[in-house]
Amino acid sequence: MALLPIQRNVTRAETTQEGSSVLTPTKKKWSNLMPLFVALVVVAEIAFLGRLDIAKNVDVVNSWTDSFYSAPASKELAVGGDDLGLDGLESESCEEWLEKEDAVVYSRDFRKNPILVSGAEQEWKTCAVGCKFEYNSHGKLDASFGIPQPAGTASVIRSMESAQYYSENKIDLARRRGYDIIMTTSLSSDVPVGYFSWAEYDIMAPVQPKTESAIAAAFISNCGARNFRLQALEALEKANVKIDSYGGCHRNRDGRVDKVQALKHYKFSLAFENSNEEDYVTEKFFQSLVAGSVPVVIGAPNIQDFAPSPGSILHIKELKDAEPVAKTMKYLAEHPEEYNQSLRWKYEGPSDSFKALVDMAAVHSSCRLCIHLATAIREKEENSPGFQKRPCKCTRGSETVYHLYIRERGRFEMESIFLRSGNLTLEALQSAILKKFKSLNHVPIWKEERPESIRGDNELKVYRIYPVGLTQRQALYTFKFEGDADLRSHVESNPCAKFEVIFV
Ligand SMILES: *[C@@H]1O[C@H](CO)[C@@H](O)[C@H](O)[C@H]1NC(C)=O
Ligand SMILES: *[C@@H]1O[C@H](CO)[C@@H](O)[C@H](O)[C@H]1NC(C)=O
Repeated sequence: MALLPIQRNVTRAETTQEGSSVLTPTKKKWSNLMPLFVALVVVAEIAFLGRLDIAKNVDVVNSWTDSFYSAPASKELAVGGDDLGLDGLESESCEEWLEKEDAVVYSRDFRKNPILVSGAEQEWKTCAVGCKFEYNSHGKLDASFGIPQPAGTASVIRSMESAQYYSENKIDLARRRGYDIIMTTSLSSDVPVGYFSWAEYDIMAPVQPKTESAIAAAFISNCGARNFRLQALEALEKANVKIDSYGGCHRNRDGRVDKVQALKHYKFSLAFENSNEEDYVTEKFFQSLVAGSVPVVIGAPNIQDFAPSPGSILHIKELKDAEPVAKTMKYLAEHPEEYNQSLRWKYEGPSDSFKALVDMAAVHSSCRLCIHLATAIREKEENSPGFQKRPCKCTRGSETVYHLYIRERGRFEMESIFLRSGNLTLEALQSAILKKFKSLNHVPIWKEERPESIRGDNELKVYRIYPVGLTQRQALYTFKFEGDADLRSHVESNPCAKFEVIFV
């Protein structure tokens, strides 16, 4: 891929919704902004992440706060319930008492006073939190794209380019340069922007007969790249894999075709990215899935995280893999039943892991940015004296009831759940969550987005539960409570602990 003269900041998948909004720098001066805002957000994140003891994130967040504020000592546990005389409360359950005592009104009502971001005029009406983008706003901006921003406005970088070509997109570098919120293809960024979504790609489109005589198709516009994709292409050809090449690189077919339509008739599709970077997975890959052409991937080292099911893709991790992969391709091409196994997900549906990943994009990244900002504002406020008085737990006799909060990923408002000290287990947490959401007749946020064939029935199924504030990489792949004791220690050290749940 040729380097573009300026960084393409607008997500490809989202261009239609946002136009070129974020490319235009804000002209207005924001001299009258309240300088505390970002600091407040930041402190909240520090305090919260600190409580989670995620040292890496703390460093990261600290780096965008140094200039504003130093982090306060971590929150003292404000636990009243224990010592209160509860004599008058016999008629009231601990749960009822906690609902009342822990209910604190937040100072900002996001419905009346939405999160305001500088960008092309747009109100995200379906966003779970008030969320508005506008230029020349008279209100206080919560966030704006680019650096520097005036104190009180979070500076945001948003880009879908590979950090190997645009080093600014490296998370640690972007933090050092002063960006407060990073939106890149990395699932470790604050608000990931991916190429994938159910809306953008008809991922479950039916498989077509493989009528082409070449077994693989390539659409590689440019032979140059900072990885070994050209050498790998040549190694596959040398190993007698017949490839129809529609792009500028080794072209042997007329490129004026509809790419996805053409791919449908090949058993394999060479999805060769121009860089091998974690989570950097572009339309090359997702179009192969739509086409039902098994992707042969050069690109993200963790591409298996993006596979619709185990055994559904081939990965050339290093140049020396080209030869064995060529063998596998030729073998599968000659064994239709085994080849068909690689496409089973097209008939039976993709894995939960794939659904949970793609469902993230059911909520537009601009809305997810607003939720991220609003969550940080609330976290900050929860460290103020009014909130410090919340009991968050209630002890009667030998039993303590803990008040926890839960929301679905992609939504904003929290629901209350309660766990008892005698049963403070992962199983009880999951069952309390399911009970709560069932009682609310909750409809998962991805329901309208997913293809009908894989929407499932109306049963809620929990895929992940994790503390609010984790990255999507942590939430989907790396975080796990190490048993009931770990959950207990988290709940005990985080009064009114907040969780997010992913349903599949
Ligand atoms: C592939 O397998 C599916 C079931 O998993 C079946 O419906 C389909 O007919 C098979 N296709 C071929 C070409 O064998
Ligand atoms: C603990 O919670 C689980 C899940 O809700 C439930 O099945 C079990 O009966 C509970 N055990 C006790 C001792 O309450």
